[in-house]
Amino acid sequence: MVDPPDDADTSPHTPVLFKEVLSALNPGPGSRIIDGTIGAAGHAAGILTASEPDGQLLGLDRDATALKLAGERLSRFGPRAVLRQGSFAELSTHAASIGWGSVTGVLFDLGLSSLQLSDPQRGFSFMQSGPLDMRFDTSQSLTASDLVNHLTEERLAEILRNYGEEPKAGRIARAIVKARPIEHTQSLAELVERVSGSRKRRIHPATRTFQALRIAVNGELDGLKRGLAQAVQVLAPEGKLVVISFHSLEDRIVKHFFREESMKCSCPPELPICVCEADPKLKVITRRPIRPSEGEIELNQRARSARLRVAMKLQMA
Ligand SMILES: C[S@@+](CC[C@H](N)C(=O)[O-])C[C@H]1O[C@@H](n2cnc3c(N)ncnc32)[C@H](O)[C@@H]1O
Repeated sequence: MVDPPDDADTSPHTPVLFKEVLSALNPGPGSRIIDGTIGAAGHAAGILTASEPDGQLLGLDRDATALKLAGERLSRFGPRAVLRQGSFAELSTHAASIGWGSVTGVLFDLGLSSLQLSDPQRGFSFMQSGPLDMRFDTSQSLTASDLVNHLTEERLAEILRNYGEEPKAGRIARAIVKARPIEHTQSLAELVERVSGSRKRRIHPATRTFQALRIAVNGELDGLKRGLAQAVQVLAPEGKLVVISFHSLEDRIVKHFFREESMKCSCPPELPICVCEADPKLKVITRRPIRPSEGEIELNQRARSARLRVAMKLQMA
């Protein structure tokens, strides 16, 4: 089993569930893997090492800064690593652009990286003051500030409810509209904290609001649905789809997608391919999501909410 990359100690992002991802993808010589969320390339470096001497990797990210860093970290693998700026929602177009018809594995490690969270200028964190930005792709025009300062109270409440599962969505939206203009992350976090009352909770009161705005700015849930569908299209038979989610909205989408795409198969679990009359496209490998160990959470707090689900593309009848 491959270990995290040699430069892991100096990397701005620690890959979550590293061994579990590698074991699920099981890359080897000749494999072609798409890392749809390359970030700081921790998982990608492991995949390329495990697939020596000729395994290839296509890495995507919406964030040009992440992509630049990934390019530097993966330079030692030469042309075996190809990087493209873009969304995994257009995964099959990116694969076709480098002549890949099918692939042996697809990885989505959802959400944002520590690199993005720790840069106040990106506006993802309520712990440091910065502009209300939250774009993965900084060439996109819509920012969190546009939503916070221009949406109606009703639409804001809907976003906080639907994308943050925030029980106090109505009250927070009302307070936001009253306090406009709001320019900085910390002003918004303080306002949410005031409206929410007690801070004696496990998570900061602004967590749900920030999650909701980030999801809305980046169209994350629609992108995930499209990305999952495209991954199934490009996977070769027995190829693996591996997804790490960090909150219940993402995990629910992955779970439902896997269930729908594997439905009706009544084959015994030990069969590697479907032999019954049904036409499912996937076989779910993880009935329950894999969670990080206590040891991993102790070393990397970001891992605490991670859930890993794996499915395998079935041979078409
Ligand atoms: C958790 S990080 C990935 C970390 C990476 N696995 C590693 O080991 O360093 C998630 C990355 O996905 C990117 N991202 C989020 N949504 C995306 C999408 N729809 N398409 C492509 N990249 C996306 C973010 O910009 C971020 O860099």
